[in-house]
Amino acid sequence: MSDIDTAVALLRAGQLVAIPTETVYGLAADAANPVAVSRIFRAKGRPADHPLIVHLPGADWLERWAINIPPLAWELAEAFWPGPLTLILQRAPGVPDAVTGGQDTVGIRIPAHPLALEVLRAFAASEHGVGPRGGLAAPSANRFGRLSPTTAEHVRTDLGDAVSLILDGGPCPVGIESTIIDLSRGSEAPPRLLRPGRVTPAMIASATGIDVEPPFLPSSTHANATASTPRVSGSLDAHYAPRTPMRLVARENLDAALTEAQGTHSRVLALRRLPCDAKGSDATSASTFWLPADAEGVARALYDALHQLDAQNAELILAEAVPESAEWVAIADRLRRAACGAGRS
Ligand code: TXA
Ligand code: MG
Repeated sequence: MSDIDTAVALLRAGQLVAIPTETVYGLAADAANPVAVSRIFRAKGRPADHPLIVHLPGADWLERWAINIPPLAWELAEAFWPGPLTLILQRAPGVPDAVTGGQDTVGIRIPAHPLALEVLRAFAASEHGVGPRGGLAAPSANRFGRLSPTTAEHVRTDLGDAVSLILDGGPCPVGIESTIIDLSRGSEAPPRLLRPGRVTPAMIASATGIDVEPPFLPSSTHANATASTPRVSGSLDAHYAPRTPMRLVARENLDAALTEAQGTHSRVLALRRLPCDAKGSDATSASTFWLPADAEGVARALYDALHQLDAQNAELILAEAVPESAEWVAIADRLRRAACGAGRS
């Protein structure tokens, strides 16, 4: 049997399979099977009211899972799927509560990784039922609150015991989780950014001419939460976090901060971006992990860097803050959350 056939057989039997996507590895289960979906929550240690993203093999499966799909959703699907964009839509009747956390919306995405698409196509082809079928619910394949996995090895280390199969598709080329856009409030309401990612509001505006509402400010996430506020676990301040305490420091203050921290801590590690003109020659320096200079490169390398730094059991990680321009927004978001949740266990 091929790996794909094995994966599909396991998924049909209600088991968990870790799959590579272009963003991060996902922990997949049959989204139409509440027992299978409950295994995801158990494996991750994730609160049951946090909704999951349903992954589909193509936009032609969308109407099984969502209703009142606004024209903008089809435009975004055309422009960005398969790819790192999740759309929140009104859920179709029959979508299990286990997937949506009991909300009347559902998150949908069509991933671009060839292996994920192969599994999704084969899984959907094995499906003969009507209605919401042929989808895989897949959160990032990490324990709740911890770093997202961007290699099969990360999944093995964090969740190895809990998954029946890990499909190794190599390192994830995007490296941070998909952009999430809420389109569930009807055609009149502007689309709302729930999680920044590789697909930026500027890219969406240039593809559709429509402006996306910015996300809630992190500090207001809890204070302003109301019954109608969607539950995005990525909106918890502490998320995507290493075990080692981590602090963000502006580039120009990092050398001084390192010197100071080394005076008070036994082992301090630094996470920095290479200067644009550097050749990376000092990239082996024992206490410094060098990231690429550009935003796409940093996104691709970030979680692996944090996994590696975390494995060194240091007392403190000092991470260089990133610029404030639009292309860095998603990375700044993940770094801030990582620093906020770091060192908690
Ligand atoms: O790139 C990604 O999106 C990866 C890969 C595996 O596809 N998946 C991922 O899943 O990051 P997860 O569960 O770690 O994060 C999904 C986020 C959560 O913050 C969840 O709360 C939010 O999507 N979400 C899912 N359904 C939602 C809904 N109906 N309304 C609001 N937020 C939703
Ligand atoms: Mg996650």
